[in-house]
Amino acid sequence: NWTMDDFIKMQVEKIKEEVGDKKVILGLSGGVDSSVTAALLNKAIGDQLTCIFVDHGLLRKNEAQQVMDALGKGLGVNIIKVDAAKRFLGKLEGVSDPEKKRKIIGAEFIEVFNEEALKLKDVDFLAQGTLYTDVIESGTDTAKTIKSHHNVGGLPEDMHFKLIEPLRTLFKDETRELGEKLGIPHELVWRQPFPGPGLGIRVIGEITEDKLEIVRDSDAILREVIAQHGLDKEIWQYFTVLPGIRSVGVMGDGRTYDYTIGIRAVTSIDGMTADFAQIPWDVLQEISVRIVNEVAHVNRVVYDITSKPPATIEWE
Ligand code: XMP
Repeated sequence: NWTMDDFIKMQVEKIKEEVGDKKVILGLSGGVDSSVTAALLNKAIGDQLTCIFVDHGLLRKNEAQQVMDALGKGLGVNIIKVDAAKRFLGKLEGVSDPEKKRKIIGAEFIEVFNEEALKLKDVDFLAQGTLYTDVIESGTDTAKTIKSHHNVGGLPEDMHFKLIEPLRTLFKDETRELGEKLGIPHELVWRQPFPGPGLGIRVIGEITEDKLEIVRDSDAILREVIAQHGLDKEIWQYFTVLPGIRSVGVMGDGRTYDYTIGIRAVTSIDGMTADFAQIPWDVLQEISVRIVNEVAHVNRVVYDITSKPPATIEWE
């Protein structure tokens, strides 16, 4: 019956022994698994670890900064942040098919990571935040396959890293607990699930900078109000989507023709099935009023009242 402290001690020893005086790289996605892996490796080998944080511009409001503050400033993790938003948006221009968007985002993530990795000299190890559930699901263990948050891609043939996966025996909850033990802030470690393609699949159809901003700002308001009412623990996932339709409204003595924002909030155990969350009317009203007042070009808010199945949690 081990404790988390035993686990940390054991892993730190193991990593030190394995790595020696060599260098390790890790792709930071902003998610929990890679963040906790980074914190653990940092504790074991400090600056022998270099993290590459690919910011694809599809993260939630202030999320990239939060990760940099918590891991970089807070824990002293060595991070190279790549602001690749323009690159991703460029690749996504004119693309409206959800699966194509996912593929492009996944491939571009690997591409940017590889470019940065190739600039670093004498790296022997690649660390990944593979959890026990990932091990079971994939079944096999290919040393050259990089598990990005999109679960796609691979490393170029000329990069032969040895893999380090210190979370391989942990479940998600244990990973979160470990993260907190290592000093990552509670709110970062216990965040709701967030898909690898990020806001890219919450702007339905073609992604533009303007639409991204609308979905990002409305999402921030939704999260703020949900937290203020203490509902963030009960609801499995909650976010806004921009379906891209526009409708007529009135503001002052003028007619508007602006976007609709959809609110998606579900309760679930594992994301496989889900029920729409029964958020109290007054809370929904507060969310709606704030979004319409504070986010330009939105004049209508609707609430998604379908369960999964038949709907999925995400709209794309
Ligand atoms: P759906 O929409 O399929 O979502 O009901 C189930 C869970 O999976 C997340 N999701 C994704 N996560 N890459 C990810 O890393 C993806 O492409 C992706 N699509 C959906 C979704 O947020 C929910 O938690």
